Formats: sequence, structure tokens, C-alpha cells
Amino acid sequence: MSYLGKAGDTIFEDSDELIRVLGIETSCDETAASVVALDGGSAPEILSNVVLSQIEEHAAFGGVVPEIAARAHVEALDGIVEAALTDSAVSLDEVDAVAATAGPGLVGGLIVGLMTAKAIAAAANKPLIAINHLEGHALTARLTDGLDFPYLLLLVSGGHTQIVAVRGVGDYQRWASTIDDALGEAFDKTAKMLGLPYPGGPNVEKAAAKGDASRFAFPRPMKGSAQPDFSFSGLKTAVRQAATAIAPLSDQDVADICASFQAAVADALGDRVGRALARFRKEFPDKAKPALVVAGGVAANRTIKATLEARCSKAGFAFVAPPQKLCTDNAAMIAWAGIERLRAGIVGENAADFAPRSRWPLDSISAPLVGSGRRGAKA
Ligand code: KG4
Ligand code: ZN
Repeated sequence: MSYLGKAGDTIFEDSDELIRVLGIETSCDETAASVVALDGGSAPEILSNVVLSQIEEHAAFGGVVPEIAARAHVEALDGIVEAALTDSAVSLDEVDAVAATAGPGLVGGLIVGLMTAKAIAAAANKPLIAINHLEGHALTARLTDGLDFPYLLLLVSGGHTQIVAVRGVGDYQRWASTIDDALGEAFDKTAKMLGLPYPGGPNVEKAAAKGDASRFAFPRPMKGSAQPDFSFSGLKTAVRQAATAIAPLSDQDVADICASFQAAVADALGDRVGRALARFRKEFPDKAKPALVVAGGVAANRTIKATLEARCSKAGFAFVAPPQKLCTDNAAMIAWAGIERLRAGIVGENAADFAPRSRWPLDSISAPLVGSGRRGAKA
């Protein structure tokens, strides 16, 4: 059992009800369930947080295979939900609602999670809340740090690279996203090119620690550009060209390429984030203590973290990095988004009819939750 948030936080004082929500997450390669509680004016409590990673199932393929992921979710989800309820010592009868990720993500996994959640909600006669996975990431800092709106979110994972202004529950504005690869994907592809195992990020970071970051002058994509977005495919090509030019690669060559790649990424990311911090200052001049929150697996990278921390301290922003377990995919963030939506009174009316959305941009849900997803745009 973990107790999060800081005593004396004021943002939860307006409600004195006990709210408990069962969350379910199956949008990628983690099968997860969790029960989160919010009791009146105290800080929220994660009563259980069960995450089963499928990394081993996908490792041989160097990336997530959608069919394997969907099948693994089917096999695991019932047991994971049961474990989350048992760990929390809360019965299904006692939860106030079931919240499930309804998108964006791999549609097979989304169907498994949402259908299971619908069945549980119907059997227990509880409301079902369809949650946008990105909203889960966006609101996590309120669960862990009691952060007040508005704040800035940098989401860097295997599937997403975006900067979002988090203005309120259901009120998000995407300020930047990648125009090609997600950052985690760039790490994974770089690792694959260099013969390092999947998932690539941690292995690139490990190799980089022994490398010379100044050996290769890789491009800093978008650096200095007035356009707010990210791009990583040119960097990936530069890495491939450098590797091909000096092949066969020694361990030191691999380490030097990793270090140079990581330095380029950190530099480009720092530039993009710097622009967003400046924009935040302009748009929210009255915000006394602005904060940048990071989420997603790539946020574990120490070089990237240090770069962002330095940017924030220079710009007078707090740097908030929730514990890694809650930064990567999990169901506590989904249960928490459910609680936030219950408290804000925006749960949607027909979640039982809600269909999974493989693409579901976060800022389209500033409008009512149900029936308003803008399909087709890059999430
Ligand atoms: O958020 P996450 O666990 O899952 C989703 O993508 O939804 O992120 C996984 C991504 C992978 O691409 C992985 O290579 C990357 O995060 N990653 C890292 C590090 N740890 C994980 N990238 C760079 N440095 C790391 N230390
Ligand atoms: Zn995620």
C-alpha cells in the first residue's frame, strides 16, 4: 500500500466523500489494474497497483507485436483485476466506478480492457468511465504530488512524444508533438541498429555511459526552429549512416554512437522544452510556481532528466518527475483519472456504448467525453 501526495495539499479539500475507483489499463504491452481511493480532504491513496509487463513476449521481435499483446491481455487480465482487488482489500461492491483505458493505443488490447471493464461494471452495477490513456499520464502528477492546475506535461514514451498544457480536468492543449517517430521508438530503433537488446532505451543509456558523446556530431532535430514540434527520424538516419561507415562496430564504437545519440536527443529536447516553458510563462503570467511534469518510459533517462532539470531551474520552473512506476504505463493513473472525472462531474453518459479508439487526441476531450473523439488525427 502506498500513500502519496503531501499533507497540507489544498486541492482536494472541496470534497469530503470517500471515492474508490478500479482502473484497468491494456493499451500497449502492460496488463494493469489498480484501486485508488480519495478520502475527503486527505491526499489520494493507491490501494493496489498491479502491472504485468509483456516485455519478454515481445523481446524476440524487437518491438511490441499487436496480436501477441492482445492475446496476452486476454490471458492475464482477469487474474490481474482479481489481484488488484485482493491487494486493495476493497470489494467490487465497494468501488464507486470502473475506469478503463479506451484509447489511444493498440486496438486489440483496448477491446480486451474496455470489454472486460464493461462486463465488470454491468455485473456489479457500477458506472463505467472511459479514459483517454494520455489523460492518465497528464493527471498523474496530481496523484503523486498534489499539483495544482495549470502545469506543463512532457510525455516521452514508446508511442508518444508531446508537450501538453494541462489546464484542468478534461482541459488539455497539445502544444507540440512529434512529426515522425516517438522518442522511445527512436531509442528502440537505434538500439536495434546497433545490435542492442529490446527495450532499447535502457540499453542505449547503459552503453552511452561508457562512450564519448563528442565523437559523432549528430543533428539536433528542430533545434532553434520556431515550429514547436519534435522530429527524430533524421537523427535515426544519421545514426545508421555513421554506423554503416565504420562497420564492423567494436563495443567502443557502439558506446560512442549511443553517447552521441543521447547527447543529440537531450540537446534537441531541451531546446523544444525551453520554448514551451517560455510560452507557458506568457500564457499563464499569474502562475506563481509553474511546473514541468515528465511522464513516459524515456523520462527514466538520466541524461535527459538532468538536461530538463537544468532548463527548468534556469526558467524558474519546478521539475516534477513522478516515481518511475507511475511514469510508465499503469492502471493507478487510469483509476485516478476516473476519480478526477467523478469529482469534476464529467464522466460521460453512455460509457457502456463507448467504442475503443486507436487514435484519440488528448485535446479533443476538452469537449464532452462521450462521442466527441476526433478520429484520424495523430495522437
Ligand atoms: O512509457 P513506456 O514504458 O511504454 C510505452 O511506450 O507506452 O515507454 C517505453 C519506452 C521504450 O521505447 C523504451 O526504450 C523507453 O521508453 N525507455 C528509455 C529508457 N527506459 C525506457 N529510453 C531512454 N532511456 C531510458 N533509460
Ligand atoms: Zn503510456
